[in-house]
Amino acid sequence: REKKRKEGVNLLEMSASFFRERLKMPEGQGAREYLERRGLSLEVQRTFGIGYAPGQWDALKQHLGGQGVAEGLQVEYGLLVQHEDSGRTYDRFRDRVVFPIRDIRGRTLGFGGRVLGDAKPKYLNSPETPVFHKGRELYGLYEARQANHRLERLLIVEGYMDVVALAQFGIVNAVATLGTATTEDHLQRLFRLVGEVVFCFDGDKAGRQAAARALETVLPQMIDGRQARFLFLPEGEDPDTLVRKEGAKAFEDRITCASPLSEFLFDQAAQGRDLARVEDRERYASQVLAAIERLPQGVLKSLMLTELSRRTGVDESRFEALMASHQRQPE
Ligand code: UTP
Ligand code: MN
Ligand code: MN
Ligand code: MN
Ligand code: MN
Repeated sequence: REKKRKEGVNLLEMSASFFRERLKMPEGQGAREYLERRGLSLEVQRTFGIGYAPGQWDALKQHLGGQGVAEGLQVEYGLLVQHEDSGRTYDRFRDRVVFPIRDIRGRTLGFGGRVLGDAKPKYLNSPETPVFHKGRELYGLYEARQANHRLERLLIVEGYMDVVALAQFGIVNAVATLGTATTEDHLQRLFRLVGEVVFCFDGDKAGRQAAARALETVLPQMIDGRQARFLFLPEGEDPDTLVRKEGAKAFEDRITCASPLSEFLFDQAAQGRDLARVEDRERYASQVLAAIERLPQGVLKSLMLTELSRRTGVDESRFEALMASHQRQPE
């Protein structure tokens, strides 16, 4: 099994260099123009190992086959798709700009591929394979570690392009989840490396929902000494569009001003409520209390409780009694 895994990793590396080569060749012209239109410098393309998957059905298959790689292995590692009925195989990534997804040591585990136009799906990712697990990997983590002598915080963004664009503007500490929600596993990995994470999702409905879910996921991980903050972008912007519009300095200022978890939590609970009304205040307090209950024991938890008490005028001991009764009798 170890041997097979090694073969797989080797195969992914061969594919990554194949894609990079093809980007430089005449057939890569459309992709090169696309990347230029998106404003990606050659340097940042190199740093992230960006490539191009040709349009044919079997360009990579031919290439790997010629090197003696078994077809079954290519299927297993997500490079070929196998048609269910006929059993015929063909390249998964065709006519797409390809982003290698690397592990923390720089080994390629999978790929994300973007169409050059607006065909659907816009991005195609490697499927689950023996080495690639979507809910675990973070795009850009290897590159962020390479670029920073000492990492203090990491920015969590939605997309490949966001990571790469920010890096080009000198903000070299962004990572992206791969089209999935931020998972517990992601956060555990990040907090092993840094004390602070800043969530920075797109300024749209999906982005705001992602932030709300990220808040839920991060709560149990907020042991003292860790920090989580939330950066909300103007409507319609993502980190890529915004950093190009405003420049690095303005974007960094936004990072500096991002809301701490406590602020986001209270703001979110207050939204759409009129806190002059008792009933609204009850809903508000219940929502915040439910979040506080999910925090691990520690100073942050105590302070949040004190703050909730201050904001609602309800004695802290009442909330503590409530929490204790929830613990005896989980809802
Ligand atoms: P977005 O649609 O916000 O992508 O999806 P983007 O990065 O801003 O794309 P550009 O700027 O148009 O190139 C965010 C992320 O969600 C995943 C990808 O990881 C993408 O970067 N995604 C999106 C998919 O996996 N598949 C899709 O079809 C779309
Ligand atoms: Mn596994
Ligand atoms: Mn979006
Ligand atoms: Mn974008
Ligand atoms: Mn986006």
